Amino acid sequence: MTFRTTVSDLVKRRFSCRTYLKIPIEGDQQHLLSEFLASNQTGPLGTSARFALIAATDQDCKSLKGLGTYGTIRGATGFIVGALEQGSKNLEDYGYLMEHAILFATDLGLGTCWLGGSFSKSNFAKKIAPARGESVPAVTAIGCIASGARSKDLIRKGAGSDHRLPWTRLFFEERLGKPITPEQAGAYAESLEMLRLAPSASNKQPWRIVRNGGNWHFYLQRTKGYGKDTMLFRLLRLADLQRIDMGIAMCHFELVARQCGLKGCWEVDDPGFEKPGESIEYTVSWVSAVD
Ligand SMILES: Cc1cc2nc3c(=O)[nH]c(=O)nc-3n(C[C@H](O)[C@H](O)[C@H](O)COP(=O)(O)O)c2cc1C
Repeated sequence: MTFRTTVSDLVKRRFSCRTYLKIPIEGDQQHLLSEFLASNQTGPLGTSARFALIAATDQDCKSLKGLGTYGTIRGATGFIVGALEQGSKNLEDYGYLMEHAILFATDLGLGTCWLGGSFSKSNFAKKIAPARGESVPAVTAIGCIASGARSKDLIRKGAGSDHRLPWTRLFFEERLGKPITPEQAGAYAESLEMLRLAPSASNKQPWRIVRNGGNWHFYLQRTKGYGKDTMLFRLLRLADLQRIDMGIAMCHFELVARQCGLKGCWEVDDPGFEKPGESIEYTVSWVSAVD
């Protein structure tokens, strides 16, 4: 699926929109988005998911709080809801597929906001009717952007949403801890920069990438006191949102690489690099194709 503009432009335009105009999404836009969702069902690591664009009721925005999400969503007229099958890399695939849909919606001029919560037994899930074994790990609010939605949002300010970690904390050469510069990254510098601007749950930016030869190894640096092993996540039965963040990073990296004419594929094959601590885990590698 091609966009009307560059992926880099979409990455820079996207932001978490929490205030929407109370007007429905235009019929043409709904049609194009639904068509895209129907074609976006298998993740790069092989998991299947089904996505649907659903119209929001007045109750939906109010009910979000009880489902473990943070921030307040005002006026969203729709939601993208996905049902995900089980699998060892299913949350990464969900992150990739939903983020691809978000960039598509951004291209249509729509606002979006990822929402991580416990949706599997909620009214949102009923609208996509998950089959046995399917879950709904996160949804996306969608609608027409209200003026000031980016600049005046206190949640964005509080989460430092306009800030991202520097390259030196995220991207490495040969081993974790040895920074790579944009010059050294060469043709992949733009892919890494657009990955750096990706959204992540609570803006924790858990991605760490190591280049070794033609391979880019993706690691998840878990945030202390946040995520799947904490009481809060267990009580609220939240999905492992930092794994979803990894899929989002894969999506930005790959779409920009392909746009730059760089070829490759995803493989799960741990290179066995030394890890500086327990809380970092290997996820996946981008293996560059040599022409
Ligand atoms: C998996 C995931 C879950 C998120 N959950 C929520 C949420 O429950 N409520 C919310 O307001 N924002 C949520 N966000 C949005 C993040 O807070 C936001 O992406 C981050 O602060 C960076 O800001 P930006 O998207 O405006 O660039 C979530 C983002 C991701 C990727």
